Amino acid sequence: MLVQEIMLTKLVLVAPEASLQEAAEKMIEAESTHALVVDELGRLLGLVSGHSLRKSTADARCDSCVADVMLPSGQMFVVSPDTPVEEATKILTERHISQLPVVVGNMPVGYLNMEAVLRAKAAKARQSCDLFEPYRQAPSLLASLCEGLAVVDHEFVVREFNPAAERISGLEARKMLGRKSLIYSAPDSVVRRVLESGKPLYNVEVQSNNGRVVLTNNVPIVQDGHIAGVLQTFTDITETKQMYLALLKARDELDKAFALTLPDSRLEQKLKSTPEYRDNYNPANGMIEITQVIEDGGYLHVVNALKVAADLNEKGLMSLLGIDKDALVQALMFHDIGKSQPVLNVGQVVDPYKVFEESTQHAARSADVAENYYQKPADVVTLIRYHHHREEDLPDCFPRHLLPMLRLFKIIDGLSAGLTRRNARIGFRVSGPRLTVLEHNAHPSFDRTMELDLYTGIEQVFLDKKQRLAGREAMQP
Ligand SMILES: [Fe+2]
Ligand SMILES: [Fe+2]
Repeated sequence: MLVQEIMLTKLVLVAPEASLQEAAEKMIEAESTHALVVDELGRLLGLVSGHSLRKSTADARCDSCVADVMLPSGQMFVVSPDTPVEEATKILTERHISQLPVVVGNMPVGYLNMEAVLRAKAAKARQSCDLFEPYRQAPSLLASLCEGLAVVDHEFVVREFNPAAERISGLEARKMLGRKSLIYSAPDSVVRRVLESGKPLYNVEVQSNNGRVVLTNNVPIVQDGHIAGVLQTFTDITETKQMYLALLKARDELDKAFALTLPDSRLEQKLKSTPEYRDNYNPANGMIEITQVIEDGGYLHVVNALKVAADLNEKGLMSLLGIDKDALVQALMFHDIGKSQPVLNVGQVVDPYKVFEESTQHAARSADVAENYYQKPADVVTLIRYHHHREEDLPDCFPRHLLPMLRLFKIIDGLSAGLTRRNARIGFRVSGPRLTVLEHNAHPSFDRTMELDLYTGIEQVFLDKKQRLAGREAMQP
C-alpha cells in the first residue's frame, strides 16, 4: 500500500507572514491540529502545530507571525505519494511526529498521520476478513472434519485452522489465526509454491513441526482473477508411512534371504547386470516405447519367480506327483543366465522383434551354462532349454514326464515377468493338478484369470468384460 492511497488531502495552508490568530482560526475551522506554511507559489516552508501556537501564547508572543513559530521545512520529515505506507508509518512512530506532509517536489499535496494509517489498516483487515467469509460460514462442519483444514491468505496470514488441523499439527488455532505464519511463509513451503504458481498441488508429503508425516492437498483461492490465498487440507499418514517403510524393509530382507539361496556371486552379478524394460506397446505399428529401465531386472525377475514358487509350495502344489520342487527351483535360478539384453533408453521407440533376441536362443544358452559350468541335473537343464518353446514345438526327444513341470515353470516365469515389469498383483487357487491364476496389472490388457490342468495341458483363459468386448469389436469387419 502506498501513501497516496490513504493520505489526507484537505490541507490547511497559511502564509509565513500570517498572524498566529489567523492560523489558529483556520485550523479550528478545518478541525485540524496543524497548518502547512507555504509561499506565494505554494512551496512548503514549514509546519505550524497547535502545540507551537499554544506555546507562543504562553510565552506572550501573540504578536508573532507564523514564520516565527513554524518548524522550518529543512527540519521536517516529508514523504512522497509513492512512499510505501510501512515506511511512512515507521517515520511517524520512530520520530514521534504526528503529521507527516506528503510532497511532490516541494509542493505539499497531502499529509499522513497515525489515525489515517490505523483507519486504512482496519479497513484492509475488514476487507481481508470479508474475502474469506465463504470459508468461515460452516464452523460446525469444519469442526467435525477429520481432515485438517487451513486457509492462508496471500500474505501468509492464517484465516482458518480447524480442530483437526490443531490435533494433527500440534499447533493452537488461537495462536495461528490472524497472524502471519512462519511455517507457511517458509521458502520451501508448499503453500508458498501454490501462491506463487497459482497451480494446485495434490498429495504433497510434508513433515509437521511435531514430527508427524502429513499428506497435504493445496488449492489456490482465486478472487476476481487474483490468487487471494490457499486452501489446504491434510491428513496424518505417519502410521501408514511407518507401515510402508516396515514392509519395504521386510521385502528387502526377503530379497536378501532369496539372494542367499543363489549358488555363487557370479550368478548374482550376472542377473543384477541384466536389465529389463517397461514399455508401452503400440498395436498400430507393433512398436514399443521404453518407459522405464530396471537395471537389475534379471535379478528381480528370479527373486520374484522364487517368491511365486514359494507361494505355490505353500498352496501344496509342489507335493503334486510329477512336480519336483528342487529341480524347479534350480531351473528358475538359472533359466535366464544366458540372456543378453540390448541397451535401450527411456523414450526410445523400437521394433521388439528387431532389438530383442528370440527367446529360445537365451534359453538354449542358459541350459548350456547350467549343464557345463554348474553341472545341473538333466531335468533341470531340459526345463531351462525349453522354457520358451510352445508345447507343439517341443522336439520328440522331450521327456514327457517333465511336461507338468514345464507348464508350471512357464506360468511362474510369466507371473514373475508381470510382477517385475508390470507391477502385477497375483493370486492362486490350487485344486489337484488344476491351477487357477488371477493376474491384475497396471496395464489392464494383461488382466486375466487362467485355469490350467498341469497334467493335460488344457488351458482356459477368462478375460474381463472390457477385454472381451474389445476382442469382439476387433473381430468386426
Ligand atoms: Fe527366459
Ligand atoms: Fe524368465
